[in-house]
Amino acid sequence: MKAATSSYVKSAMEPSQYPADGRPEFAFVGRSNVGKSSLLNVLLGQKGLSKTSSRPGKTQTVNFFDVNARIYFVDLSGYGYAKVPLQLKERWGKAMTAYLRDRAPLRLVLQLVDARHKPTEKDDEMLDLLEGAHVPTVVVATKIDKVKRSERAKNLRRIRETLGLDGEAALVPFSSVTKEGVKEVWRIIGELSKDSV
Ligand code: GTP
Ligand code: MG
Repeated sequence: MKAATSSYVKSAMEPSQYPADGRPEFAFVGRSNVGKSSLLNVLLGQKGLSKTSSRPGKTQTVNFFDVNARIYFVDLSGYGYAKVPLQLKERWGKAMTAYLRDRAPLRLVLQLVDARHKPTEKDDEMLDLLEGAHVPTVVVATKIDKVKRSERAKNLRRIRETLGLDGEAALVPFSSVTKEGVKEVWRIIGELSKDSV
């Protein structure tokens, strides 16, 4: 599966603003700056579709992208960015949590962690929230191009151990630069949207 057509649909703060047509949704979560928007752009083959930035906190609220007029990709604001005013952070946090907990069309969450670092408490909390909400989740290790070959296995193992992923759980090494992992992410999305794409 791949994206023949894709376009930005809308950004929503309230559930009443979400698309109402019930198409399957695939959401991308992770710390600020982990590479959510970059991954989305690479999957969709459109560079500027979701705005990226070297400064954390670029993506705000819940952003819907139409893919092939069949499914939606949902880019969520990054968590763990300290410099955002508390009030705003709480507002985004609430919007994001409300989306993840209660969204019926949500088929899968792709949780992104930086392949270079040990996942944080916030990453673990997010996985717990998803588990509690019974949302299927796949972990994607981003920026793998920045990890030396010799460190790869060790870093991936550290991610598994810190997040408590068992051997069966998918962990996809990914790079928006080299495009490693693009096929595998599409395969997983394709599998879960078989009846609709
Ligand atoms: P927020 O919207 O702020 O939460 O960030 P984000 O998770 O959407 O991250 P974004 O895609 O904006 O990327 C953040 C920075 O990391 C940018 O400077 C990207 O160019 C860089 N980046 C993203 N993915 C990769 C990757 O796979 N490899 C490398 N080397 N850099 C990457
Ligand atoms: Mg972003």
